[in-house]
Amino acid sequence: MRIGVFCSGGDAPGMNACTRAVVREAIAAGHEVVGIRRGYQGLLEKDFYRNSLGEPLMALRSVSDWARAGGTYLRSSRSDEFRQEEGLRKAVTVLTQQRIDALIPIGGDGTFHGAVDLMKYWDGQIVGCPGTIDNDLIGTDFTIGFSTAVQTAVEAVDKIRDTADSHERLFVVEVMGRKSGFIAVYTALAAAAETVCIPETDTDVSTIVSDLQALKKRGKSSVMLIVAEGDEDGGAEVLNQRLKEMDCPFSTRVLILGHLQRGGSPTPEDRILASQLGDWAVRALSAGKTGVMVGNVGGECCCTPFEETYVSHKPIPTELLTLVATLAN
Ligand code: F6P
Repeated sequence: MRIGVFCSGGDAPGMNACTRAVVREAIAAGHEVVGIRRGYQGLLEKDFYRNSLGEPLMALRSVSDWARAGGTYLRSSRSDEFRQEEGLRKAVTVLTQQRIDALIPIGGDGTFHGAVDLMKYWDGQIVGCPGTIDNDLIGTDFTIGFSTAVQTAVEAVDKIRDTADSHERLFVVEVMGRKSGFIAVYTALAAAAETVCIPETDTDVSTIVSDLQALKKRGKSSVMLIVAEGDEDGGAEVLNQRLKEMDCPFSTRVLILGHLQRGGSPTPEDRILASQLGDWAVRALSAGKTGVMVGNVGGECCCTPFEETYVSHKPIPTELLTLVATLAN
């Protein structure tokens, strides 16, 4: 079988490790691999990775030393053209011309929406790997890139804590997560933050301020308030403004971590997860599966139909939220 592999949507550390696993596992199983550059847009533009002979095929050595590299060597994009019917039909023409039988997209919910649309026009197989720092897909305990993003955020918060302590300040630290608070909650817990605000729960600023007043009375010298960018009240700037309006007892500053969280060499956890998922995706294709995402649930491979991976929000474990509050005391 000829398998096309590509990365799509926001890049995530570990995408290269996943691509490497797909290439090596597929070739070992007797398949051919076409590396599609720049996601769905690259497919439409026939932008393929070329091996040392100039052929649009990946070889075992094409992915040498990819496991530790951040970003994605295949590049990524978000394609508007692919979302239109004309774009989808064009994609089918390219796939047929290139004799591609199956696809392995590595990405998040937008990527899997694209796969579902493509399957309405194309009868090849598609098995996806969850690659997004947001960890917001149902059907896997963790997504590729989440562990590294949390590590980056925790390192930043630890550093900010030093200066916050020196000046007795409160920092409102904004982490990524458009619709999901996973990065925020894990960062808050690991960095011993006092408060966390996420899209999944209501943010009550007056309660936050009275908690802060109690902390100040008890002699707390600094406060870390972690907010997910997609918090229903707005991100760090809005929250900071509201804290000021409501007599926050600390002098405040804002830190927005932004795309920094998407970069860097993947953690061992991300490299291992990415390698397993790439391997499992090839095996799932060989077993005839299609229309599914492979995930790691309790250490086992689990195949979930694309539509179910993004149908609702993956719930944040409430005990983690409670723990942030308990430990802040
Ligand atoms: O989906 C991953 C993510 O990093 C989100 O957390 C964030 O909101 C978004 O991508 C940013 O996307 P862009 O790269 O288009 O700015």
